[in-house]
Formats: sequence, structure tokens, C-alpha cells
Amino acid sequence: MNSIEASTPNQAQIEGANFLNLLIVDDERAIREACREVAQSLGFNTSGADSAEHAYRVLEAQGADVVLLDLKLPGAGGLEALHQIKERKPDAVVIVVTGYGTVQSAVQAMKNGAYDYVTKPFSMDELKLLLERVAGHLKLKTENRMLREKIKSKQGFGSIVGRAPEMEKLYRIIAKAAHSSHPVLILGESGTGKEMVARSIHFSGPFRDKPFIPVDCGSLVPTLIESELFGYVKGAFTGAVQSKEGLLAIAEGGTVFLDEVGELPVDLQAKLLRAIQEKEIRPVGSTKRIVINVRILAATNRDLEQAVAQGTFRRDLYFRLNVLSLRIPPLRERRQDIPLLVGHFMERLSRSTGQERTISDDALKAMLAYDWPGNVRELENCLERACAFTTGPVIHLGDLPSPLHGVPGGISPVGIDGTAKIVPMAELEKLTILNTIAQLNGDKLLAARLLGIGKTTLYRKLKEYGSQE
Ligand SMILES: Nc1ncnc2c1ncn2[C@@H]1O[C@H](COP(=O)(O)OP(=O)(O)OP(=O)(O)O)[C@@H](O)[C@H]1O
Ligand SMILES: [Mg+2]
Repeated sequence: MNSIEASTPNQAQIEGANFLNLLIVDDERAIREACREVAQSLGFNTSGADSAEHAYRVLEAQGADVVLLDLKLPGAGGLEALHQIKERKPDAVVIVVTGYGTVQSAVQAMKNGAYDYVTKPFSMDELKLLLERVAGHLKLKTENRMLREKIKSKQGFGSIVGRAPEMEKLYRIIAKAAHSSHPVLILGESGTGKEMVARSIHFSGPFRDKPFIPVDCGSLVPTLIESELFGYVKGAFTGAVQSKEGLLAIAEGGTVFLDEVGELPVDLQAKLLRAIQEKEIRPVGSTKRIVINVRILAATNRDLEQAVAQGTFRRDLYFRLNVLSLRIPPLRERRQDIPLLVGHFMERLSRSTGQERTISDDALKAMLAYDWPGNVRELENCLERACAFTTGPVIHLGDLPSPLHGVPGGISPVGIDGTAKIVPMAELEKLTILNTIAQLNGDKLLAARLLGIGKTTLYRKLKEYGSQE
């Protein structure tokens, strides 16, 4: 069995809010001792430093959630020390200690990011109250973060919209997957809701209170993915001024969601496979291994089997990730869900803009006929855009982007068999006007100019079509 690194993630401790690390920076030993006693009685883990330099070393080696910093230290100025601490640990809550009559420096310190200050001499009761307040503050911060994740997940799980039989099947698999700890491979075209499904699996499972960490393997440069996933130690490469924990370790007990896993470079695929199989990772530049306990969810819009056949994706990793797999159908394969999705997004948009809006029949018809290559995301964007451009209560076909006008109510200048279709002039005119406005992102004045008609004519025609001004 391999050893777990001594430096248990601070983040995890804050997460649990059971005990926090306090670093006491004061050159007077007696004061450090007194503070230590009070802090420990409150459940803090403590460490001490008698100079700014010493404090930096402690911070780099083991971090700290809270720093009690005497501004009057030998050597470095207190404000400079505060700056250095914040640079090394931006999240650390720093309480500065000032001497009587130097409150001015405390004010400056607060401006520079200190959380609070206390003036010397202070009573232990004073310190106790202050530390309790800090612990409460950190706990709240953590709870808020978790709450935010949960709310996000509600949007995800509570409201995956769709009643098509394929979706019903998907819900059953999600429920099953949520209660297992095996990797799941989520397949689906772009915009079908892969991340949403991953969130649902995590947040409806027993470890929903643990972190859910998405990693976009497609957008990060390879070296960055490695250091992000596995972490690194100080000095591992140029710029590694301090050690950083890997996401696979930070997600302890929770889920890492490897989005676009098909984009992972081959050498990293090998490292990832080892991490999953052996349940441990080695940070870049470190000789120590860290035991990990995370659930892996992965998603891709690529055909991984084909990538395996072509040798760009490791077969063994594919099998590892593919213990359970689910495929989200593209929207064009479940058109019956389009009205539901439209209703869902319209309701959400009405709520967020404070304006009730509905969609006209011709617009909905066009949405039903359209192929949605960008799937649900495209539909969502399309409605968002339409709402942004429309001032009235109804969204008309003319308010939708031009690709949807290819089949407005089934009218197209070219028939399905490619032969020219007889289209009345009035329809052609309507098509041209609406397409032009859509192409110009709703700029009707410019559309009128380009079409060579007056703006009054354009508005009159739009009124005839029942489109929104
Ligand atoms: N079934 C659904 N019900 C409601 N909203 C959905 C549904 N599917 C997707 N969405 C919404 O569509 C958008 C895209 O979803 P998501 O990011 O999960 O897709 P994705 O498959 O990960 O896309 P990409 O491949 O582009 O990363 C999100 O805003 C999501 O909330
Ligand atoms: Mg995605």
C-alpha cells in the first residue's frame, strides 16, 4: 500500500469545516503560545513562525487557511509580508495584529486584503471571538460554494427536459450509474447535454456533497492538462513557484468529469489509465505517489471506437472508461421533445428577463422542421437571441436566425428532389425580407436599405406577416 502525502488538502478540510489550519506569525514566543492554546481549544490546527521568511516557508510547505500576522515583525515590513502571504495563498484569511497607536497600518492592511485586525495587547477572549468569526466565515463560504453546485445540479438533474422514449431510457441509466462507482462514458453530439448528464449522475448519487470537477481535455494544452490533473511540486518546471494539488486529488471522494476525453494526448492517456487502475497519482516532479479516491466520468463527441482502430486512442483506456456507457440522442432524433424544450427555455427566459413571452405557431413549426446540428445548446441560444431582439410578447419566425428560415412552414424555393418549386412572388418576398433581417441580426433599418425599400414599407410588410417590430 502506498502512503498518502502528509499534506492533506486544505481545501478538503475547509470543505468539511471541521478543523482549519492557523498559522501564527509573531516574533514573541509567549504570544505564539498563548494564541496557539486558544486556537487549539477551538479546533484549529496550528503552526507558528517567528519571522516573515519563516511564515512563507510554512505556507509553501503546508499552506494555511487562516494567518494571524503581527505587522511589526523584525526585518520585512508587515504590509510587505501581507502582500507575500496573499500572493502565495490568495484564499488565506489574514488577521493582522497591530500595536496600539498604529491603527492606520491596520486600515491599510485591510485595504490590501486583510480580513480583520486586532490591536495589541489583546485579550484571549477577543482572539477567541475573532477566530470563531473567521471559522464561521469560512464555513459559510464553503457552504455557499456547495450550495451553488447543488443549485447548478438542480438545473441539471431536476430539469433534464425530454420525454422521448430514448430519454426515458437515459434516465434509467443515469439512476443506475449514480449508485455505482464505475466510470461512465457519455456519448453524444455537441450540445446534446453531456455535461448536464454527468452532473446528474454525480449529484443524484450518494457522494453528491463531494466535489464535482469538470476538466475540459479539449481546451487545455497537453502539459497543462497533466499538471492540472496530477498536480505538481514546487520547482517541477519553470513557473512552478509553489506546489499545486492535482484535480484528481482535490476531487477526493467525488467526481472528475473528463470532458472531450477523446482529445487527450496518447502519453497522457497512459498516465490516466495508470491512475484509474492503481488509484494513485504522482504529481509532476514528485517521487511520491498520492492515493486517490475519485469517480471518473468521461464524455466525448468523437467516435472513440474509430479512434481506437486508428491508434489515436488507447484501447485499454477505452475499455476502462467504457464500463458503462450511455448515448444521448441528437435532438433531430427526438423531435417530439422540441416543444417541451422550447417551453422550458421560454419559461426560464421569461423569468430572467421579467417579461412573459410566447412563441408563434410559424416559429415553432420552423423549429420542429429544423435539424439542429448544435442540438439543445443551439436551440437554447436561438431562443435567447430571439428574446434579446424582440421587444414584443410573441416571438415570430422572423425573429429566429436565418438557418431556420430554410423551411418556413415548408416553403423553400427548391423542392426536395432538387427541382425548382413554384413559389408565389409574395412568399418569395417574405422569405427574402425575413432572411435578410435575420442575417443582419435583426437590424431592420439596414435590411430596408439593402433591399432597396423604404423602412415604412418594411414595417408594413412585417406587420402583414405578423412578425414583431
Ligand atoms: N435535455 C435537456 N434539457 C434541458 N436543457 C438541456 C438539455 N440538454 C442540454 N441542455 C442545455 O443545453 C446546453 C448544452 O448542454 P451541455 O453543455 O450539457 O452539452 P454538451 O453535450 O456537454 O455540449 P458540448 O459537446 O458542446 O460541450 C446547456 O445549457 C444545457 O443546460
Ligand atoms: Mg460539454
